[in-house]
Amino acid sequence: MDKCKICKTQTKPVISFGKMPIANGFISSLNADEFFYDLKVLFCPNCFMVQLGQIPRPEMMFGETYAYISSTSSAMADHFKQQADEIIRLVSKRKDPFVVELGCNDGIMLKHIAEKGINHLGIEPANNVADLAKKTGVRVLTEFFDQKSAQKIARAHGPADVICASNTLLSIENLNSAFEGFNILLRDNGLLFFEDPYLFDIVSLSSFDQIYDEHIYYFSGHSVRELAKRHGMKLVKMNHQDVHGGSMCYYIKKGTAGRPSAQVAKWLKKEKGLKLDRITGYKRFKRNVDNICRNLKNTLKKIKSGNNQIVGYGATSKSTTLLNYTRIGPKTIDYISDNTPTKIGKFTPGMHIPIKAHSQFTKDSPPFTVLFAWNHKKEIFQKEKDYRKKGGKFITYFPKVTIE
Ligand code: TYD
Repeated sequence: MDKCKICKTQTKPVISFGKMPIANGFISSLNADEFFYDLKVLFCPNCFMVQLGQIPRPEMMFGETYAYISSTSSAMADHFKQQADEIIRLVSKRKDPFVVELGCNDGIMLKHIAEKGINHLGIEPANNVADLAKKTGVRVLTEFFDQKSAQKIARAHGPADVICASNTLLSIENLNSAFEGFNILLRDNGLLFFEDPYLFDIVSLSSFDQIYDEHIYYFSGHSVRELAKRHGMKLVKMNHQDVHGGSMCYYIKKGTAGRPSAQVAKWLKKEKGLKLDRITGYKRFKRNVDNICRNLKNTLKKIKSGNNQIVGYGATSKSTTLLNYTRIGPKTIDYISDNTPTKIGKFTPGMHIPIKAHSQFTKDSPPFTVLFAWNHKKEIFQKEKDYRKKGGKFITYFPKVTIE
């Protein structure tokens, strides 16, 4: 029961959120069927991997019409342009390099590689976003990545110089198979470069809303180092990113030669400081999460009792965990404003809050707005300067409930 998905050791429970719907499962009608699963997080004391217990099938999470489109935020577009520059730098000295991206979404990063005329391939299982990527001039293979597809790609295109992935590896349940695939597809001196939400940030901020079905793994330097070692690879560099509430870029070399950079030692030490290598480090996390939920509910109840309108901003996947765990629904939040065309007119999973276009938010200028897209706070505060000038207040909740 509850064995580690990486090393099969008996895991220890971190936190349990009860029954949850699919985070990106926005529904078109209130009578729609919804799938629920048990959302709980486990820690492996052997390889340090923090991971989900039960995982809905991939087809439930990434169907034909995956709702998540990367290019809805200008800050993310800038971030991925910088990431493309880093990859171009990494392959600059290589002859006719080949770059593969797992989960290329709408081509937000890979289009810059394509524009430079660099040989590339995006691997994207969701048809709707893969089509968007193709429109930007990116070459895309529409399937899930594993050992078999790695062999197929290597046969058709030759070995890869860099395999990169952003917000993707955390969703691959069989990571051992993916790493076998990396070993097959990478050139001998090839590099795996991936970025995902960083466990250290999640625990420091108590940002438990990062925990949902698509996020099967919550990586740290400790767990990534072990995972790489298990597959004859080496974690050589870590580079922290100030996006998605704190992400980490991991650089992993094929083979076991080479020295890790000083940054790796620095982050491993910081992780040890939070006790992320022991179950005790996660006890305080659970207490903090429950405090935040209690405070948020009380704050909203108080505002609502004064007959004030409250809306949400950003129908994020993350907010599915927060809303369903706290049971905050349409009686409290009138609607959520979102700029993603595929989400407008739908309802949030589980709690069924309507999603409306941003024009509704501008028209209403509600006195209170819960910022579910808190990871885009800087960009949104800039965009909504006038709203705040007129007295509109945003409510945020990590690391504590704040009205500003
Ligand atoms: P995202 O940050 O990708 O979070 P998650 O991975 O949890 O879904 O989602 C941001 C959501 O917020 C997305 O649906 C688009 C929306 N959004 C706006 O409506 N307006 C904005 O200005 C920004 C930046 C995002």
